[in-house]
Amino acid sequence: MFIGEAPGADEDEQGEPFVGRAGQLLDKIIEASKLVREELYICNILRCRPPGNRNPANEEAANCREYLDGQIATVNPEYIVCWGLIAAKNLLDSTISIGKLRGKFHQHGNAKVLCTYHPSYLLRNPAAKTDVWKDMKFLMKDMGVDLDKAG
Ligand code: URA
Repeated sequence: MFIGEAPGADEDEQGEPFVGRAGQLLDKIIEASKLVREELYICNILRCRPPGNRNPANEEAANCREYLDGQIATVNPEYIVCWGLIAAKNLLDSTISIGKLRGKFHQHGNAKVLCTYHPSYLLRNPAAKTDVWKDMKFLMKDMGVDLDKAG
């Protein structure tokens, strides 16, 4: 299960998560990680797009929480990836930066949770792609896939 922040303009239009520029980068990460988008459950902390693409307010995230908890309970994922700080801090109820949360698993219910940088952040800071790639290798290795060896 992948959790992002909130729908953007493209997602609002198409009614699907991660279909804009960040989504296209996410698709590349998915492919490089030997995952298949159709086999992932992709969702967001927020159900609606905050005006002007601002960060979600705590109250907005709280309003959508019951829905997110329902999605997690239904999917019952073994693994959750939190893409970006908004996803990580809301899911894990944490105030720690992604830089400190990443690189290890956290636990949420039955799921092992990996936190990494948001694809939108990577579009602005391509140097952080190295860290995300390390995180994906760490995740996939735990699933039994060695991305350094996978052809
Ligand atoms: N960014 C997100 O966090 N979620 C989306 O669905 C699209 C962009």
